[in-house]
Amino acid sequence: MHTPQDPIAPPSSELARTHFTSGISIIVPTYKEAENIPLLLERVDRVRRDHDLELELIFADDNSCDGSLEAVEASGFDWARMIVRTENRGLSPAVIDGFRAAKFPILVCMDCDLSHPPEKIPQMILALNSGQQFVIGSRYVPGASTDDDWGFLRWLNSSIATLLARPLTQMRDPMSGFFALRNADFKKAKDLNPVGYKIALELIVKCGFENVGEVPIHFSDRIHGESKLTLKEQLKYIQHLRRLYLHRFANAMYLAQFLVVGTSGVVVNLAVLSLLQFLGLPEAACLAGGIGVSVVSNFLLNRRFTFSYARDRSAGRQFIGFVAASAVGASVSFIVSLALRASAFSELSYGLHLAALCGIAAGMIFNYLGNRYIVFRKTHIRR
Ligand code: GDD
Ligand code: MN
Repeated sequence: MHTPQDPIAPPSSELARTHFTSGISIIVPTYKEAENIPLLLERVDRVRRDHDLELELIFADDNSCDGSLEAVEASGFDWARMIVRTENRGLSPAVIDGFRAAKFPILVCMDCDLSHPPEKIPQMILALNSGQQFVIGSRYVPGASTDDDWGFLRWLNSSIATLLARPLTQMRDPMSGFFALRNADFKKAKDLNPVGYKIALELIVKCGFENVGEVPIHFSDRIHGESKLTLKEQLKYIQHLRRLYLHRFANAMYLAQFLVVGTSGVVVNLAVLSLLQFLGLPEAACLAGGIGVSVVSNFLLNRRFTFSYARDRSAGRQFIGFVAASAVGASVSFIVSLALRASAFSELSYGLHLAALCGIAAGMIFNYLGNRYIVFRKTHIRR
């Protein structure tokens, strides 16, 4: 993985022969990158002249006030400009604003810190022209490399993040901030809602791109300034993933979340059961108490997470519905538990707990169906 390669390789003969007919809008999100701006502009200018590209470069800056704006003006390049944003700060919204302001049919997004070699842009556009819908400048395909001092932790972090996104896309490096797509496809994207850093992943999932490609790059470490990828941003990634999974696998995701909440309910149930047993209550009361408390905790968690789309409807009514739906499941659970306790599990030391667990499993299936399709059903009627 660590084979350095000259980032300013001469254009290959195939590239040199290509005439790029459509203009390119390069969007560069920036925050406090004043030192890097002139360096990036120089390198892009060289690519522009080498390939006779018609392009514009838009910096989408979050009001850095560090001389960034002046640096763009001082460059004297009439194809470069900066949008200064003062609201809704963040990398992904900045990129989207930049894309919306772009005038050419091809969009490219890249970092300002020279991690992403602009020399690869022609090859990425070639891939788009040959029919691909989305092309990533990738660190993880044959021929790609990263700077040697990429620490183990950063590598591990990036690998885990990529692995978590695997069910959403087969791309090796969907975390990359270096990518190209057609403006027309971007305009078709519905309900873009990126949180944090992973704008490429958002676009791949929301635009439903299937024909995607990766061009190997050498990823260099930044020399000037520092990374803004904080721990907080990384935690936002989990939230982002949840949304993307919901978008792609709606039903399976509701069930999965329902089961996670249900599992927490099992813990609550058994804890309450143990407490009541410890207090010397009769076994039927222990079972009933465990079920009762877990119904409430399950309701609260399902309303907040699993079926959060229905959160603006009345909690009181939903609770009644939830209890009614749960009552069927709870009765099943109670009867199965009591029956097993009296028969198969009567001699076992944890017989009561085992009986409760089997009852819970039997009740859960009733609960899910009732809640998904009745209590928290999706309504399309607006009052
Ligand atoms: N407008 C704006 N607002 N730009 C920002 C913000 C922000 O809040 N935060 C960061 N940027 C800009 C930076 O100035 C830089 O040009 C680019 O976005 C990437 O930020 P870095 O701080 O350099 O991120 P990184 O190098 O740690 O992360 C890179 O690698 C990740 C994968 O490992 C980026 O390419 C990420 O997009 C990528 O996911
Ligand atoms: Mn960077």
